Amino acid sequence: VAPLKLGIAGLGTVGAELFRLIARQDKALAARCGRSVRVVAVTARSKAKKRGIDLRGVSWAKSPLALATDPEVDCFVELIGGADEPALSAIEAALGLGKSVVTANKALIAKHGLRLAALAEQHGGALNYEAAVGAAIPVIKTLREGLAGTEINRIYGILNGTCNYILTRMEQEGLSFDACLKDAQRLGYAEANPSFDVDGHDTAQKLSILASLAFGTKVAQNAVYVEGISSIAPEDLAAADELGYRVKLLGVAVRTKTGIEQRVHPTMVPRSSSIAQVMGVTNAVTIDGDGLTPITLVGPGAGAEATASAVIADIADVARGIRALPFGRPVAKLGTTRKAPMERH
Ligand code: NDP
Ligand code: HSE
Repeated sequence: VAPLKLGIAGLGTVGAELFRLIARQDKALAARCGRSVRVVAVTARSKAKKRGIDLRGVSWAKSPLALATDPEVDCFVELIGGADEPALSAIEAALGLGKSVVTANKALIAKHGLRLAALAEQHGGALNYEAAVGAAIPVIKTLREGLAGTEINRIYGILNGTCNYILTRMEQEGLSFDACLKDAQRLGYAEANPSFDVDGHDTAQKLSILASLAFGTKVAQNAVYVEGISSIAPEDLAAADELGYRVKLLGVAVRTKTGIEQRVHPTMVPRSSSIAQVMGVTNAVTIDGDGLTPITLVGPGAGAEATASAVIADIADVARGIRALPFGRPVAKLGTTRKAPMERH
């Protein structure tokens, strides 16, 4: 069987780690997929930057678009980030040529995912984005495939590793918000623009994707109420602790009689609750389905290896010939999201 030929756009925290993991897992990956997976071309902003990866034998494309349309590339892997250009045009071009696309880009999927999914459906390529939510936690596949037969009423959790890392260190070590954020950036958890993390927008993007998969509705990022953690100080966490609570940034999506309610805000959770035990860069997602006790998935929610492992899982699906519908059903069959008024829970 011919190898699956990859083009990777973006060689930062995630892209460089993906390159290393593919080299390290070469034989195991071929055994799991029934064919080998080869990186044939890459691109990033700077060709000269030292990245600790051996690019000998790999061609360098002059732009993400050139990489996406390179006839040598079967599967375009987008790890640049940003909701729009240059990632968007490159993904559109790849899908338009019937190629498969793998991305970790929640900002882009939340904003353009439906249109891109329609392109994928039309031209037969896959659009896989498991790493976009919860990094290593297989929450997209769980909702799309594992729970395809379940009526979901509510989905909620800790969806941003940077914020949970900051809140944990502020609480446990009394460090300042800024010092914790700097560490999260150094460790490769934060977005290129970290205000997306701390102001709650990254969680909102992820929540809107999960809500679409859970409720069979169109992604509606603008329907999410968003409040971040940037005004929280160590003293606030100490005060919550005295009352027996921890503060967590939660994303919550609920089906109500009047529509789908989606909200992101810091929440006081009892110290004894299971969600209060989720510390550091860990994420957790709880899914309440009809007739089931809640299902909770917990795991590393950001970072190079956690994210690259999910990207590899998506690449493996492409190599095996699996073409899941990106949002679990044809785009034309997705309902509209009626924004429910906020209720107290
Ligand atoms: P980085 O900022 O570390 O890397 C971005 C890469 O994109 C860099 O290699 C950069 O090039 C390249 N790039 C930027 N602009 C351009 C451009 N105009 N043309 C070509 N290349 C460009 O980001 P991450 O690796 O952290 O994140 C990548 C994606 O993965 C994002 O969508 C992010 O949201 C997502 N993600 C990240 C996680 C994490 O923990 N870091 C977890 C889950 C998802 P250069 O290196 O030359 O500057
Ligand atoms: N910046 C994101 C976070 C990366 O901290 O959760 C993972 O999506």
